[in-house]
Formats: sequence, structure tokens, C-alpha cells
Amino acid sequence: MTHPTIKVYVPLDSAARALGADDVADAILREAKARDLSVELIRTGTRGMIWLEPLVEIDRGEGRIAYGPVTPDAVPAILDGSAETLGPVEAIPFFARQTRLTFARCGVIDPLSLPDYETHGGLIGLRRALTMTPEAMVEEVKASGLRGRGGAGFPTGIKWDTVRLTEADRKYIVCNADEGDSGTFADRMIMEGDPFCLIEGMIIAGLATGAARGFVYIRSEYPDAIAIMDRSIRIAREAGLLGVDILGSAQSFEMEMRVGAGAYVCGEETSLLNSLEGKRGVVRAKPPLPALKGAFGKPTVVNNVISLATVPVIFEKGAAHYADFGLGRSRGTMPIQIAGNVAHGGLFETAFGMPLGDLVNDIGGGTASGRPVKAVQVGGPLGAYFAPHQFDTAFGYEDFDAKGGLIGHAGIVVFDDSADMLSMARFAMEFCAVESCGKCTPCRIGAVRGVETIDRIAAGDRAAPALLTDLCNTMRDGSLCALGGFTPYPVMSALRLFPDDFGLTTEAAE
Ligand SMILES: Cc1cc2nc3c(=O)[nH]c(=O)nc-3n(C[C@H](O)[C@H](O)[C@H](O)COP(=O)(O)O)c2cc1C
Ligand code: SF4
Repeated sequence: MTHPTIKVYVPLDSAARALGADDVADAILREAKARDLSVELIRTGTRGMIWLEPLVEIDRGEGRIAYGPVTPDAVPAILDGSAETLGPVEAIPFFARQTRLTFARCGVIDPLSLPDYETHGGLIGLRRALTMTPEAMVEEVKASGLRGRGGAGFPTGIKWDTVRLTEADRKYIVCNADEGDSGTFADRMIMEGDPFCLIEGMIIAGLATGAARGFVYIRSEYPDAIAIMDRSIRIAREAGLLGVDILGSAQSFEMEMRVGAGAYVCGEETSLLNSLEGKRGVVRAKPPLPALKGAFGKPTVVNNVISLATVPVIFEKGAAHYADFGLGRSRGTMPIQIAGNVAHGGLFETAFGMPLGDLVNDIGGGTASGRPVKAVQVGGPLGAYFAPHQFDTAFGYEDFDAKGGLIGHAGIVVFDDSADMLSMARFAMEFCAVESCGKCTPCRIGAVRGVETIDRIAAGDRAAPALLTDLCNTMRDGSLCALGGFTPYPVMSALRLFPDDFGLTTEAAE
């Protein structure tokens, strides 16, 4: 009697691989051979629950059942059906509470299978876009309420419209895949788990704005994502999705990858454009905006990976469907990345509006160390710290802004009560000093003076806190870009919220 083929899904995502997914995949193939079992091994992206990686799903014809974290030793019991299961992934609370629009396919499909992509809703958005005028496409993006997911939260439709309306012989779409913010990995996860989604989003951006060429500027620290994007671009080209006459239409779009050399400031859009053009990664003064004069002096859309990868679902399901989720002017969903000292770290995509405390405690499960949460930093190295008494803050652009913070690329890094916030403030200044492009004085010199001033506070200099506040105001108001301009946010929030760590009373820190 021949056994039906068992489908086994193992992530090829680099976080899962770092936790042993390749060894588990090998063990599955070995064990299947030894037992003469017919197994189809499918490598997928991650489902985003990093504490359960390597997470393996088995489908014996009755749906996918999850196991995790799996070690090679556990493979025989999993194939016997005697190992403890997590049940279907969709029933795991961390997953069940999500609204997956951008990440709907991530972890489900084989990232390099275009047929798999199409079976799960891929290319519906592009086919619809090909029936629309550029103006109607831009209106669709505007109506969705999509705002830039890279950090600044600028309305994507307005940026596209500026490029669309600017006359030029050439225009470009540049995808910002530099993902330098601490505790963030959403860009990497989607590029490794659903790369065609980003390609489809870039093609739609090109059609809407009149750009026939795109670049993905990706950090060199992402070798797996680089390899997967590279292969998926080739597959897309062979399938007639890229190049001339996209999907048989009279439209063209070509794209390629450019690998950065590892500077945080090269995530800033103008610095990125310099680097893309082979120049040193220094910030350009604005104006002119990149939308008017960007890559190679031509009108350019610079958008984050998640902004562009969200475009296909907006065109697939309609702007109104997307805009129906969210809070106030923060429309749609956000792939929130929960990291640091946290029990359940991973990617949680949800409509804007969930209170920060729910994300940290209910979803994240509190600290991994089991100690009380002291602070969370939201929005990368330039984001403010939040203390537990602020955990009712709803996750949204305006709500965070009102509390002196920012959501940035939606990374949440959790710290327990052993964290020393003076050291964290010092680190913020040190980071700025190391990563500064050097173009403007408040950042280049200010960050160095910031480190020295915090050292003076640590040494008990009573005049130093006022000096630090003054310095932070100068950096905030006088810096050319947000690296120098936002470094004061983590520094001042640490000082304000945790005066004890600075040897101060609450009044002295105000
Ligand atoms: C120092 C600095 C670093 C940045 N790093 C990134 C980054 O890694 N990825 C990103 O998408 N945006 C980053 N940004 C924001 C970009 O300048 C820009 O706003 C963004 O790419 C626009 O795309 P969006 O509108 O889709 O968010 C950074 C900004 C600054 C000031
Ligand atoms: S703030 Fe810093 S990184 Fe930005 S332009 Fe000035 S020196 Fe360069």
C-alpha cells in the first residue's frame, strides 16, 4: 500500500535558520527516507512567532498542524504523530489576534513560487491597476490612507502624486530596504517570505507615477533576503511580470537590487540616494524633495519595503477595505515588531489603535527574564522611551506624537527593571556620534558633547542636566535630518521618566 504524500513546511527565514531550521529540514528528509515515507518538504517564510522557531507544520491531508520549537531529535516523534502539537497556527493566540493584510501570505507560501503567490491572491492588485489610469491609481492609494511605514509616516499617495505630476524623461521607484532601526525585522521578513508582493507593489508604483525603473536598496547584513529578492526578480522577469509588456499590457517596468555598505544614515532617503548613485552616504539638504529631484537628479518615489508591499492588498481588496481598519489618521494595519527582553518576540500585524501595554504584556507576554517591565523604546534608536504608566497610549502616529514619541518603523524593544536608563541615554548619544554623516554641526559635534555631558551627570555634576537639556533642544531644532534631530527623544525621555537613574529628583529632571 502506498502512503499519501505528507506535506512538511519548514521556514527558510533567516531568524528560523539561525535557530536551526536547516538542521530540522535535513532531519525530516533523512527520517522520511529511512521510513520510506513520501514527504514533500516546502520551505516557507516565518509565521512571525520567533520564540516558537523552528516552527514546523505538517499536513497529512487534514490541514496544517504546527510543532515548535523543533529540534532534529524531535523529528521522529513528529512524523509518528506522537509529539505534542501547537494545533493549527491560526489557533495560536499570538497569531489569532492579528489582522494580516500585508503579511497574509508570509509563512504560508513558498516564497519563490509564482504559482503559489497567485493561488493566494497575488497579482490580482496588479491586474486591476493595469485597467486604471495613473491618476486613479494614485487616488486609490490616497483613499487607503496609507502612510509611509519607514518612519516619517508621510502619506504615500501624496508622494506618488508629486512624482506623477512632475514632467521628466525618466523617473524612478526606490525601495528603502536599509532597515536599520533597532528591534525591527518586518522588511527582512516580507522579502524572505513573500518577495513577489514587494515586486508587485513596486510595479504598481511605477505604473501610477510613470517610472519605468526601480531599485531595491538593501542592507548588506541581509544576505538571505538579498538572495531571495535576487531570485524572485529573475523569476518575475522570466514570467513576463518585469520588462516590456508587463502581463501582456503595453507597460514596462524593470528593477534591480543595490546593496548598501552598512551605515544607519544610509536609511535616510537622501543619503540613500547618494549611496545608490555610488557617492558617499551624506544627507542632502531639502529642498529639492526626492519626489522632484531624486535618484540621478530625476523625480523619485522613495518608499519603505512595507509601504510598497502593502500596495498590492490595497488594490486587491480596495482602498475602502484597507482604510476601514485603524484609528484616526492612522489607517490600515501595522506590522509591529516586538523584541528585546520579551517572552514572545515576533511580528504582530494589527490595525492601529491597540494600547502599547497590550502589545507588551498580553501579546508579548512581558519580559523574558520574568522581571517587571521598566521601559520600552518604540520606533528604533531615535524613538522615545515609554514607562508602564504610559501603556494606555494607543499605537498610532498621532497618539505617540502627543506623548513626545514616534512609532517609526514600529519596533518595540522591551527592557526589564535591571536596565540603567542613564546608560541607555548615553548609548543614544554615542550611536548618533558614530553614525552621524557629519554634514551639520548640531549632530556632528552635539552628539559627542552629549556623551561627555551624560558622563558629567554620572559623576554628580549638578549643572550638567540643564546643559544636557539645552544641548538636546539645539540638536532637535538645528539638525539637518532626523538622526541629529530625534536623538534627543530617547535621551530626554529617559531623563524625564527615570530621574533616579541620573541621580536626580523628579523636579530636577523636568
Ligand atoms: C537616520 C535615518 C534613518 C532612516 N532609516 C530608514 C530605514 O532604514 N528604512 C526606511 O524605510 N526609512 C528610513 N528612514 C526614513 C527615510 O528617510 C524615508 O522617510 C522613508 O524611506 C520614506 O519611505 P516611506 O514614506 O514609505 O516611509 C530613515 C530616516 C533617518 C533620518
Ligand atoms: S543630523 Fe547628523 S546625520 Fe543628519 S545631516 Fe546632520 S550630521 Fe548628517
